[in-house]
Amino acid sequence: MDNINKIIKTKLQELKSNSGRLFGLTYPYIFILITIIGFLYIFNMNYTARQNVSPPLPDSTKQADLPVIQAKTIAPIDITKIGDPTPDLLAKGKNIFTTVCISCHGEGGKGDGPAGSILNPKPQNFTSKIGWKNGPKLNQIYKTLSDGIPGSGMASYAYLTPEEKFGLAHYIRTTFVQDPPKDSPADLKTLDQLYNLSQGQKIPAQIPVSVAAKFVINENDSLVQNTSRIVSTISSNISNPAVQLFNKVTDSKYKAVVSLERSFGWKQNEQTFVNQIINNVNLNGFNYNVFNLSGNDWDLLHKYCIGVIN
Ligand code: HEC
Repeated sequence: MDNINKIIKTKLQELKSNSGRLFGLTYPYIFILITIIGFLYIFNMNYTARQNVSPPLPDSTKQADLPVIQAKTIAPIDITKIGDPTPDLLAKGKNIFTTVCISCHGEGGKGDGPAGSILNPKPQNFTSKIGWKNGPKLNQIYKTLSDGIPGSGMASYAYLTPEEKFGLAHYIRTTFVQDPPKDSPADLKTLDQLYNLSQGQKIPAQIPVSVAAKFVINENDSLVQNTSRIVSTISSNISNPAVQLFNKVTDSKYKAVVSLERSFGWKQNEQTFVNQIINNVNLNGFNYNVFNLSGNDWDLLHKYCIGVIN
């Protein structure tokens, strides 16, 4: 036993004084361990990568809600005059071009703006004769601006007024397009009919559907709350003879109250009150006992309902 202890002690001392040897002994184990970790990492790489990469495209199936649009009236356009590139129209067009369009179509209208470089198809080069989908005529550019070019980065600029669209079309044609082709009177007439230009337009206000839904829910909420309040008032006055009468002639107090809340005229006129209840009996929460009411009973019921339903 002592012998073995001695041997171990001397071996350990040897190892301490010769650390290179220690490394030599453990090296194969370290090597195998690192290799195993390496393999594990590679096997999981696919999985890890899938976790990290976000989807390359936005979800195009998601429908955006309607934007808010202020109601506005658009003044009629004189289609016989709008064909002339007046300084006023050109200034308007230039102003919008340099703020809105230049990022894609470029300062020189060559379709080489910084935002356009990643697009496919590329923004139209206005100085070139080729590549136009609609074309460089006034009516064609007007159409492009109104409807956009589907399937491309060219969005619809329908929010611009007709004057602004004509201003842009004139600016593009006079500044960039070589020998811009002229619109025939028939071209302009068709454009007028297509976009109601000479009649002017009334644009109704529009709010997002989600907002509209909230309005409806709130409205219903307050109706429901009001009805519940009225029904509980009625239910808590059992000793009142009018309430006893009301209980006798109704199967559903809630329905009866709602049917009265939602209609008008019965408050001013007892006959209307009677007719309304009798004509819809059973559907409106009232029951056939109403046919046994005397004139005095109707008086009492009418007065009570006027007082409690508001
Ligand atoms: C986000 C980039 C972008 C912006 C901003 C942009 N366009 Fe475009 N535009 C395009 C692309 C892309 C096309 C080419 C569409 C195609 O060839 O299908 C195009 C094409 C056009 C055309 C040619 C249509 C035809 O007949 O082929 C006109 C005219 C035009 N744009 C005008 C404008 C005006 C005016 C503005 C500013 C109000 C504007 N664009 C803003 C990307 C843009």
